[in-house]
Amino acid sequence: MDKPKPGDLRADALIEHGWTHGRLRVAAEGDDWRRFASSWNELVPDAYLGPARCRRNRRYGRVLAHRDGTLEPLDGTEFFQSKAVNRAFGDQLRVFEPLTEEALSSPQLARILRENVALVNEAAGKQDWELGIHCIRVLADPHEGSEPAPEGRHSDGHAYVAIHLIDRHQCVGGQNQLFRRGEPDPQYTVTMTEPLEVLLLSDTSMEHAVSEIRTADPSAPSWRDTLIVDFNAVLDPADMAGRTHRSLQ
Ligand SMILES: [Fe+2]
Repeated sequence: MDKPKPGDLRADALIEHGWTHGRLRVAAEGDDWRRFASSWNELVPDAYLGPARCRRNRRYGRVLAHRDGTLEPLDGTEFFQSKAVNRAFGDQLRVFEPLTEEALSSPQLARILRENVALVNEAAGKQDWELGIHCIRVLADPHEGSEPAPEGRHSDGHAYVAIHLIDRHQCVGGQNQLFRRGEPDPQYTVTMTEPLEVLLLSDTSMEHAVSEIRTADPSAPSWRDTLIVDFNAVLDPADMAGRTHRSLQ
């Protein structure tokens, strides 16, 4: 099957179907981009994998996206999902290493977040969002593949989730599938190959899965870098008081 070409990301598609796939209108070239993408080299091993057939490095941070467009980093890197949402890693508080200062202050990150927030606000109505920023590198070696999502088909317990490809290096696999909740067959299947190709989906009406990655060259390690942004409605802005300390440009 031919790979679907990334089209325009569309808020009306997000409303009607629960997902949209396309390429962000953010340049993935130049010095800003190279610095941002190379910050994936600074990720650290996920300490919570246990026996999962997965190797991944990651960092995590949170950003408050105000309805007026202001972006403010939030303190704290703890992350919790219930077992009902995440059968592999739920019911435990995971505390991840924070985003590097270089990644957090990158103008690329601010541009990416702003475009995501604009789309979601167009679909969901303008509001404040607490964003979870997950920078993840899934690694495979010649002897063993690696599952990006050992929990299998799932939703993550957020309002929306944006899955961006940052880079692929010598790997095959990593095919994303989107399912309408409760339906057996996927609505959409795609293997993202272009930097800043993104799947933006409603996490309340859709589930997603991703296939394992394997090395394309048996003599070399391989990896797949993604940026996952989760959207959580801020119900009471007073909850955010004192948790931010500056704005992103
Ligand atoms: Fe997920």
